[in-house]
Amino acid sequence: MATVGILGGGQLGLMLAESLDRLGQGVVVLEPDPESPCAQRRSHVIAAKLTDPTALADFFARVDIATFDSENTPSGPLQPYAAKLAPSLRVLEVSQDRAKEKTFLSTHGFRPVSFRVVAPGEDVRAAALSFGLPCIAKSALGGYDGKGQYRLRTEGDVEAMPPQAPGGWVLEEVLQLDSEVSCLVARDERSAVSFPIFENLHTHHILDLTVVPARVEQALQDEARQVADGIASALGLVGLLTVEFFIGTGRDGVRRLYVNELAPRVHNSGHVTRQACTVSQFDALARILAGIPVVQPEVHRGAWCMGQLLGDVWLAQGRAGGALDLTAWRDFPDVVDVYVYGKREARKNRKMGHYVVHADTPERAMERALSFRAALTHPG
Ligand SMILES: Nc1ncnc2c1ncn2[C@@H]1O[C@H](COP(=O)(O)OP(=O)(O)O)[C@@H](O)[C@H]1O
Ligand SMILES: [Mg+2]
Repeated sequence: MATVGILGGGQLGLMLAESLDRLGQGVVVLEPDPESPCAQRRSHVIAAKLTDPTALADFFARVDIATFDSENTPSGPLQPYAAKLAPSLRVLEVSQDRAKEKTFLSTHGFRPVSFRVVAPGEDVRAAALSFGLPCIAKSALGGYDGKGQYRLRTEGDVEAMPPQAPGGWVLEEVLQLDSEVSCLVARDERSAVSFPIFENLHTHHILDLTVVPARVEQALQDEARQVADGIASALGLVGLLTVEFFIGTGRDGVRRLYVNELAPRVHNSGHVTRQACTVSQFDALARILAGIPVVQPEVHRGAWCMGQLLGDVWLAQGRAGGALDLTAWRDFPDVVDVYVYGKREARKNRKMGHYVVHADTPERAMERALSFRAALTHPG
């Protein structure tokens, strides 16, 4: 048995911890928020900041190996413990800084959208005008769910954007998007496996639905899997890596696959694997951390759709948090799972839970997922 440490106790950490429990491993979580999913539901949670040197020393003394539930985990304080981290500190550092990430991708021949790095202190407004409008400015550090991003269409937008961002900026061309897909790669010391491609639909930059099988031509699905494998291998990954892709058309008018960003961890789009695949993303990472060889995940028959439950659904039910009125589920037997994360306070756009639908076709699974959520949002 291994004792596995998880830096961060949100819903991703919680589901990973549950897999480790089932596989007979020990778990210690480091998480400051007493209202976090892990703090609500688990023992062996050290309540301290991820930058607290005493807490980190205690945490690493108790675990054989450790992972993190966010690429925004501060990497500096982890330097002394690099030997116990999977994925490695280098993978964390590359994926938490968009400037390093895009530079890594392009120098290794994995195509990101056309971009330009704007160093901290450099004039981002002049850089955006010379890069060309429209474009998107993204802060190099700290962004998620579209936070720290500015769509620049006009010179007025450029004037209105903040001049500084944490770690500087990355400017990107705006693609005409057909779809967004993701590919998870699980890699141990000996071999690598990749999950089937997931199709992801976002609302207000937040993942809303994930559909498997993806409604994307097979050639692009194969290419995405190859690219994801290549990236994991170029990074020397041990652990799990999610590669987010765009399928769309850029300034050159050619429709193709682009790498968007990397997340060296279990991913929101991978929630669907808990029901749709023979091995879930959480079990895949748990196995690697426990020293059990990876195994190729296969998709079960039919089609699957994961839908996110944001705090908005609680608020629409007149609830401030806690339990959700699930009476509507009685009319949706094809909803095969509802997972409520146990966060106390519901806020708009806060990820509070998700559910998974099983159907014959991707279209039907999506339609049922949307109907189920509408029925929860407007009960009775
Ligand atoms: N260059 C782009 N062209 C078109 N849409 C984009 C581009 N960059 C981001 N987006 C949209 O914004 C979403 C969030 O951007 P992303 O870079 O993935 O940041 P985050 O870290 O917030 O997830 C993407 O999923 C996509 O829908
Ligand atoms: Mg993203």
